Amino acid sequence: MPLAARISKEMLKPHLLVSGNSSLSGELKVNGAKNSALVLLAASLLTDEEIILSNVPKLTDISGMTAILSKMGVEIKHKTKDIFLKANDLRHVELPYELVHGLRASFFCIGALLGRIGKAKIPLPGGCKIGARPVVEHIRGLKALGAIINVNHGIVTASVPGFEGQLKGANVVLDCPSVGATETILMAAVLANGESTIENAAQEPEVQDLAKMLNKMGAKIKGAGGPKIHIEGVKKLHGCEYTVMPDRIEAGTFLIAAAITRSVLKVTPVISDHLNAVLQKLRDCGCRLEKDGEGIKITPGEIHGVDITTQPFPGFPTDLQAPFMALMTTAKGTSVITEKIYENRMQHISELQRMGASIRLQGNTAVIEGVSELSAAPVEGRDLRSSAAMVLASLKANGTSQVVGLDHLDRGYELIEEKLNKCGAHIIRKQH
Ligand code: UD1
Repeated sequence: MPLAARISKEMLKPHLLVSGNSSLSGELKVNGAKNSALVLLAASLLTDEEIILSNVPKLTDISGMTAILSKMGVEIKHKTKDIFLKANDLRHVELPYELVHGLRASFFCIGALLGRIGKAKIPLPGGCKIGARPVVEHIRGLKALGAIINVNHGIVTASVPGFEGQLKGANVVLDCPSVGATETILMAAVLANGESTIENAAQEPEVQDLAKMLNKMGAKIKGAGGPKIHIEGVKKLHGCEYTVMPDRIEAGTFLIAAAITRSVLKVTPVISDHLNAVLQKLRDCGCRLEKDGEGIKITPGEIHGVDITTQPFPGFPTDLQAPFMALMTTAKGTSVITEKIYENRMQHISELQRMGASIRLQGNTAVIEGVSELSAAPVEGRDLRSSAAMVLASLKANGTSQVVGLDHLDRGYELIEEKLNKCGAHIIRKQH
């Protein structure tokens, strides 16, 4: 499409007008973790008693998940950042594809439903712009626990045979350390009869957060956060109050915002053990990081190119690859960024190039030659994290950029423009 036509089409979409050459100061507050909250919401299906979740971010992904749970019969009340959930009248419903499509975590409910009521019917979540995103590992694990699973016309129908309808403990070895598969199998195994193990389990902090809450509900899980998780099945789980951990990806995005604008900022709260790979790369590229209360103070120096390769935790998270690439576009020298988790997570490159970045893509490896200046342009975030990357690059660019793709951005960042504006950015949200 010619640039003029594209610009006028984009003008009609909700967008952010981001002033460049920004200098930020002060403190950026980090919300509760989206990916953790989503799965903790699903875990509420495992008990008929009340679950109170605190520090839940206000995001479209979260409201999508609560809509799905309420369709299943979960009573839900909201009070500021607390969500009260009571699943004492679960209905066996078939979820419409439109509701689960684009909200992958909704599929993870299948494990909790099988554990609690012995049946579930959920459409396959489908791929997304960043990759195919299969759920074979989830299904393989549930089958190992005794579930009968059929996939027809894109709908997964699962049930547990036998009068009692109870899953049986089993040893599951994952082919790849999938976060969602680990969480799905964990939620199924806690109410299974006997002991289970998950080997080659995902070690992400979100898995640890889930295990912590499940243990608070009376589950017996050991080893979450390591490669082998051991679960002793229990008959029943009870209600609990639980505070969602801070969002390591939002924290990382804010630290990169400081680095790209060469601004001294405090980002808080941050659990640094959740972000060690990212903190190391920020230090390597020229930032000073100091612990400051519950947060981190970042003081960027001259930024140099560094190489990164995305990996499962504790490696560099794929969810911060796009924001870090935005930073590298204005670093001194060359950086090489390799995406190893998703096959199609480089869509921000063409947009960064339109802002003057010098990037060559070879397969899933990007070679970035830092430029002295980015220039503002109309740009589009094509997935959640690439939208964040567009905002960061726009803060640095010369001029005012127009960023579209806010439906993606709002899935994972709560009022990002308000937070950044409080620290000195100039970002205006336009609905059309
Ligand atoms: C979660 C996060 C997402 C993050 C990702 C990797 C949520 C809601 N989302 O997604 O933000 O980017 O972890 O850190 O928590 N795979 C298979 N077979 C499977 C399952 C996965 O091959 O059955 C592959 C995927 O294609 C992908 C890799 O494993 O290449 C990682 O996927 P996975 O860990 O499952 O990601 P999610 O849990 O969906």
